[in-house]
Amino acid sequence: MPLATTGDLVTAAAAARRAVAAFNIITLEHVEAVVAGAETAGTPVVLQVSENAVKYRYGRLLPLARAAVAAAERAAVPVALHLDHVQSDTLLRQAPQAGFSSVMYDASHLPYAENLAATRAAADWAHARGLWIEAELGEVGGKDGHPPLDAHAPGARTDPAEARAFVADSGVDALAVAVGSAHAMTTRTAALDHDLVKRLAGTLDVPLVLHGSSGLPDGELAAAVANGITKINVGTALNIAMTGAIREYLAARPEAVDSRGYLTVGREAMVRTVVEIVRALGGPPPGRPTA
Ligand code: G3H
Ligand code: ZN
Repeated sequence: MPLATTGDLVTAAAAARRAVAAFNIITLEHVEAVVAGAETAGTPVVLQVSENAVKYRYGRLLPLARAAVAAAERAAVPVALHLDHVQSDTLLRQAPQAGFSSVMYDASHLPYAENLAATRAAADWAHARGLWIEAELGEVGGKDGHPPLDAHAPGARTDPAEARAFVADSGVDALAVAVGSAHAMTTRTAALDHDLVKRLAGTLDVPLVLHGSSGLPDGELAAAVANGITKINVGTALNIAMTGAIREYLAARPEAVDSRGYLTVGREAMVRTVVEIVRALGGPPPGRPTA
């Protein structure tokens, strides 16, 4: 079906008091697995490409983006493309031509006033080109190998009043919030500050985005959605699944050389993870069949 837009998927999820899952893609196997998993579960999905993934791909956005567009256009469920954790203005400016309907502009490492000014400029640029834009206030830790922020560190939690002003003054369409999750967790042991999630949802009139969702057990994911999170970002869980399956395959077959053998099991492990996570969010939106 035609490429969906992130804005439409998030708006529909919010109206149904559900969430849309957004999975980070790095390889073609990630692309195929996320689409196959979403089709199995019967849910729309967002394919997101982070600035770090672009760096891994020799700094080139288009090869992976074009693969994602092609997969999305052939999917049996709505699929949108999102550019994630963008700090480079050069990369930001490539989004519309590469098929992305949305970007997450990440200036959350900057002091408030600088984050606001940079985000405001990015939002003005994005809106002039029809892009939906997400930003971050309060910093979700664990990016780029940095340890998660201490729970009491400044910025470890998003302040609702500050967030309301930030959204109004920046004009962003959605806000990533720091509510207890952290990026790149390899155990599903995080616990969210659900009272804060509720207060943020009650204070802000834009959708809330949860980053670092790989570290949350199923119950926390479901509670996050019930309390008002509308977009759930997942990356590390796919890599855990893929790498674990490939490691097991190769350990059992030291003579293996055909990359299709281990990539097949890696891809299938990611499909299972996608299905498990989207089902943990509360199932497909009304009107969509379950597999
Ligand atoms: O923006 C991407 C997500 O926040 C992914 O986080 O790799 O910890 O699941 P994760
Ligand atoms: Zn993130």
